[in-house]
Amino acid sequence: MTASDVRVIGVVGLGGMGSGIAQLAIEAGYETVAREVTGELGETARGRIAHYLQRKVDKGRLEAGERDAALALLSLTTSVGDLATCDLVVEAITEELDSKHALFAELEGIVRAEAVLATNTSALSVTEIAAAVSTPERVVGMHFFNPAPLMPLVEIIRAELSSDAAVETAYQVGERLGKRPIRCHDTPGFVVNRVLIPLLNDCLRVLDEARVSPEDLDTAMTAGAGWPMGPCALVDLVGIDVHVHASEALYEKLREPRMAPPPRIVAMKNAGLLGRKSGRGFYVYDD
Ligand code: 3HC
Repeated sequence: MTASDVRVIGVVGLGGMGSGIAQLAIEAGYETVAREVTGELGETARGRIAHYLQRKVDKGRLEAGERDAALALLSLTTSVGDLATCDLVVEAITEELDSKHALFAELEGIVRAEAVLATNTSALSVTEIAAAVSTPERVVGMHFFNPAPLMPLVEIIRAELSSDAAVETAYQVGERLGKRPIRCHDTPGFVVNRVLIPLLNDCLRVLDEARVSPEDLDTAMTAGAGWPMGPCALVDLVGIDVHVHASEALYEKLREPRMAPPPRIVAMKNAGLLGRKSGRGFYVYDD
């Protein structure tokens, strides 16, 4: 399987990341089969994608005909069996190793032998995920950044047993999705999260140490360090639950105190303050 053989892309899990990846795939002209556990969640994702494509039309960056052609490439399903025609599948489900193992084992029995299986995991080991299948050479990481349609990077992660062909196919598909891919090995946090997670945790500790408000901390890092958005706004965007989970996963592997999530953010997660997706995190969101 080379990138030019890839015609149909599967996306499993249509939360913020999965729906963003599906949007990229249809905009790049791939027939896309997108799977969610319920039809209602699938339709919510389709609505989100249609909304962002419409915004592009409104701003003159996309023709109405191109929007319609892209949306026509998207088929929703609740059945993993419908991914049988996919040449490359990107998994973007919940960050639980057991759930990913079950999905990859199921996918292996459904897609054809040459199809590439990619995981968008933030902080789990791609090698451990690949251990669920008898053909781990076709498993790679394709780690997109939030919001996937806007952030240029995709990390292409080589697991212990990934084949050169699978890594190269994922890299070239990443390029065709309009991204700037980089190649890296399967180490905790890969490249960006290895640096960003402890950095964000340092920022959150400064909230209490310097007794600064989230608004002022965000102003400090945008106006004083040139960040495109402040750390509190960024953690709200990524999802407080996602950030806590990634911090815990990196701490478990690296045992560096800076990786551990600060108690304040763990308390927020436990209280259901998950950031943008729950309507409240460091900030309150009306949309
Ligand atoms: N999906 C698709 N399109 C989107 C979108 C989304 N989620 N969010 C916004 N857009 C579109 C909208 O149409 C929007 O225009 P509209 O408001 O007129 O409708 C358009 O993009 C532009 O949006 P913004 O005006 O908000 O764009 P900005 O120029 O302000 O940039 C940003 C937004 C790209 C998010 C910028 O603030 C940024 O780069 N922030 C940093 C983000 C970052 O660091 N992400 C990485 C997080 S770490 C991670 O993801 C790893 C993971 O493992 C946890």
